[in-house]
Amino acid sequence: MSPIIKWTDQFKLGIEEMDDQHFELITRINRLIIAHDNDENRDSIESLLTFLKSYVVEHFGAEEHLQRQYHYAGYEEHRKEHFEFVKLVAEFEHAFKKTADCSVNGDCKDLLYKINEKLVDWLSKHIDQSDRLVAEHIKKVLTPISKHG
Ligand SMILES: [Fe+2]
Repeated sequence: MSPIIKWTDQFKLGIEEMDDQHFELITRINRLIIAHDNDENRDSIESLLTFLKSYVVEHFGAEEHLQRQYHYAGYEEHRKEHFEFVKLVAEFEHAFKKTADCSVNGDCKDLLYKINEKLVDWLSKHIDQSDRLVAEHIKKVLTPISKHG
């Protein structure tokens, strides 16, 4: 089974900025597997990994900014989760540099599939649980209070 993740409504939280960035994040995670399956060279896969890492940092920064803007109470805790993910991506980037063989069945493949599984797993849970709470909070703040209760 292909580990490519399909973007579905289950990822949508109803806050456009978050949804757009989550879509981009998933696209970049998928690109790693696609590049490997297309037998691209290790430099291009490594740059995709670096590209992914920089996007993760950028996206988390934007999301944390939203949380501060809307005075989200779970901010510190959420930030710690982000930090863990950045660490994970950096560890994978490091491990990738140590792989010897990036041909179709080389050790790169095992690592990339493992990276994919871990990142997808983490991200799906994080979006579904932690980010959903943030989105619900923002929506609540943005909803005008009804005069009729
Ligand atoms: Fe988040």
